[in-house]
Amino acid sequence: VHVVPFNDLAAVAQLLEREDVALVLTEPAMTNNHGLIEPVPGFMSALRDATLRTGSLLALDETHTLVCGPGGLTRAWGLDSDFVIVGKSIAGGVPCGAYGMTDSLAEALEYDVTSAGFRYADRIATGGTLFGNPLSIVAARATLGRILTDDAYAHTAALGYRLAARLQESLAAAGVEWSVRQLFCRCALFFTPAPPLDAAQARRRDCPLLRRWQRLFFANRGVWDAIVGAGPTVAVPATADDVDQYADVFEQWIAQARALLM
Ligand SMILES: Cc1ncc(COP(=O)(O)O)c(C=O)c1O
Repeated sequence: VHVVPFNDLAAVAQLLEREDVALVLTEPAMTNNHGLIEPVPGFMSALRDATLRTGSLLALDETHTLVCGPGGLTRAWGLDSDFVIVGKSIAGGVPCGAYGMTDSLAEALEYDVTSAGFRYADRIATGGTLFGNPLSIVAARATLGRILTDDAYAHTAALGYRLAARLQESLAAAGVEWSVRQLFCRCALFFTPAPPLDAAQARRRDCPLLRRWQRLFFANRGVWDAIVGAGPTVAVPATADDVDQYADVFEQWIAQARALLM
């Protein structure tokens, strides 16, 4: 396994040129512990070209980014890949994951190896104890069919935009040169004027103590930031009032942070 910085096309292309890399796995935009790191323009398509040129497969992990819209960033940005992995939001909190792949990969996975003289034990096994379990499937059907509708995605994206705009206004009004990024319903705050391009940059420029203080400050004012550093994400039931409550507390926090730190 090689770990390559996100957005570093030269590094990934150099590895792929060896033509011994089976698969490249990436999120289309990095989420989770580093807030939100977007691909620089052209990165995802150049990555795809590099995998096609060198015979590697590309897997896009949309476990987090499925909240961006129906079809995740794959559909929103017209991305091409061999595998797409989804999870988390597809079953509204009930554990569930799913993956999709191209027809040719599905054929390879389902190929009856014994017909070609191989042993049954040589087949590619898929499945697991909870594979296709009824509770997860029913939850996913209900979530995808009734909750994560196009209207719901439009609603969360519009509120994500509202949230990011309010956070940016607070920073500008206070003269604090931090940055806010937004991707549909997701927002992220960085303590630098420009957002980071990869995880190492994000780690170097972050301040865990400041994040913990922010979380405590918010909790004491009725806002619970669920995951430190992941950034606020607008959920389907959230209203403009919820967004404004978050933004109001953020404004208070920025005023105190400015007074204390700058
Ligand atoms: C990007 C990404 N993919 C996959 C996973 C794995 O999800 P699970 O905990 O369901 O295995 C996570 C977990 O947070 C994740 O952040």
